[in-house]
Amino acid sequence: MTYNGKRILLGVSGGIAAYKAAELARRLVAAGAKVKVVMTKAAQEFVTPMTFQALTGEKVAAAMFGPGSEPLEHVALGQATDAIVLAPATANLLGKMAAGIGDDLLTTILLAATKPILVCPAMNCEMWVHPAVQENVARLQARGLTVLPPAAGELACGATGYGRLPEPETILEALAKLVSHQDLAGRRVLVTAGPTHEDLDPVRFLTNRSSGKQGYALAKVAWRRGAQVCLVSGPTLLPAPHGVERVDIWSAREMLDAVLARFPESEALLMAAAVGDYHPTSRSEHKMKRGSQELTVHLTQNPDILKKVATLKKKQVVVGFAAETRDLEVAARQKLEDKGLDLIVANAVNRADSGFAVDTNEVTIIGRRNLVVRLPLLSKEEVAARVLDQVAALLPPREGGGG
Ligand SMILES: Cc1cc2nc3c(=O)[nH]c(=O)nc-3n(C[C@H](O)[C@H](O)[C@H](O)COP(=O)(O)O)c2cc1C
Repeated sequence: MTYNGKRILLGVSGGIAAYKAAELARRLVAAGAKVKVVMTKAAQEFVTPMTFQALTGEKVAAAMFGPGSEPLEHVALGQATDAIVLAPATANLLGKMAAGIGDDLLTTILLAATKPILVCPAMNCEMWVHPAVQENVARLQARGLTVLPPAAGELACGATGYGRLPEPETILEALAKLVSHQDLAGRRVLVTAGPTHEDLDPVRFLTNRSSGKQGYALAKVAWRRGAQVCLVSGPTLLPAPHGVERVDIWSAREMLDAVLARFPESEALLMAAAVGDYHPTSRSEHKMKRGSQELTVHLTQNPDILKKVATLKKKQVVVGFAAETRDLEVAARQKLEDKGLDLIVANAVNRADSGFAVDTNEVTIIGRRNLVVRLPLLSKEEVAARVLDQVAALLPPREGGGG
C-alpha cells in the first residue's frame, strides 16, 4: 500500500459504524500512515477517544473550545495533512458539510481544509435514500469531494439494504488514490491476469500455477494513479480490485476475444496473464471414465494473443511478461523482438519467493534502446509501480495537450 509517511486525518462522526473506524485507523497505521483522529461529540457516545489514541499514538482532537482544545486546530488540521477520510460520515455530517456549517471542530476543519476528502457515509438504508441526503451527496461530489457509497447488507438496525460502511480494505484503496500521484489520469489501461483453464471434460482442465496477484497489483496501482482500468482475468480467488472493471474469462481463446475487443480503445496493454499454450483438441461432453493404463490427450496450440495484438497496434504501449526458469533475460529479449513489444517484464519463477502465488517478485524490465532495469525482490505492488513508471514514460502525450 502507498501510505508510507502519509498524513491522514480520520474524521469520525456519530454513527453505529464508528467502531469500525478503529479498525480502519489500525490498518492505516499498519500501512505506514501517520493518523490524526478528529471525533464529533456524538462519535464519542459510540467509541472513546482513548481507543483511537492507543491505536494511532496521537492525541485525538474533539473540542473546539475548553479543556483539550488548541486555538488553531480548526484551521491547521485540515491543511497539515495529505488527505482526509470521514468514516463513518453520518447523514447529519453530510448535511452540515453541504450547507457549509461549522458548529464543531470536525465541520470547521472541513471548511478550512485544502486537501482531498474521501467521504464514507454509513446509515440506515431509508436515511441513505432520503432525497435530502442524496441531494447533499450530489452537492459534495459537485464540489470535488470523493464519496464512497455505502455497501449493501444487513444493517445494525435490523434492516437490509444500502447503508453499511464499506470494508476497511475498500476504504484504504479509495483513499490510496487520493494520496497517489495522478500520472496516469484518464489513461485507458488494459491488464490481463491469472491463468487460463483449458477443458478436458466438464470437470477437468489444464491450467498453470498463476495466482493473478501480479496482474491484479498492476490493475490496482494503475487505478490509484488515475487510469481507467479494465482487467481481463482468468479464474482466480482474488476479489475484483476497487474501481477496476473486471472481465472474467475461462480459456485462452476467451481471453483473446476479450483483449482484442478492448485493445483498440486502450492506450496501454499489460499482458501479465499466464496464458495456456495449448488446449485439448477435443473436449469430452461427459466426464471421462478411468480406463486403460495410459491415456493420450491430443493438444492444439492456442492463438498467440500478443502476436494478434501486434497486428492491431497503433500508438499503444504493449508490455509482455516472460516467466522463465532459465536463461531469463535472453528469452525475454527474444520475446520482446518476436512480438514487437515495447517492454517486457522478465520474471524468475524458479525461486520460492518470486513468481507464482507469492506476494513478492523479482523482475527485470527490458525495453527498446537498451533499457534494462534490474529490480531487487519487491512486493508485487512495488513491482507494478516500477513497471507503470516505464509505461507512463512511453505513453504519447494526451490528445488535447494534457499531461
Ligand atoms: C444508536 C444510534 C445509532 C446511530 N447510527 C447512525 C448511523 O449509522 N448513521 C447516521 O447517519 N446517524 C446515526 N445516528 C444518529 C446520529 O448519531 C445523530 O444524527 C447525531 O446528531 C450525529 O452527530 P454527528 O454527525 O455530529 O456525529 C445514530 C443514533 C443512535 C442513537
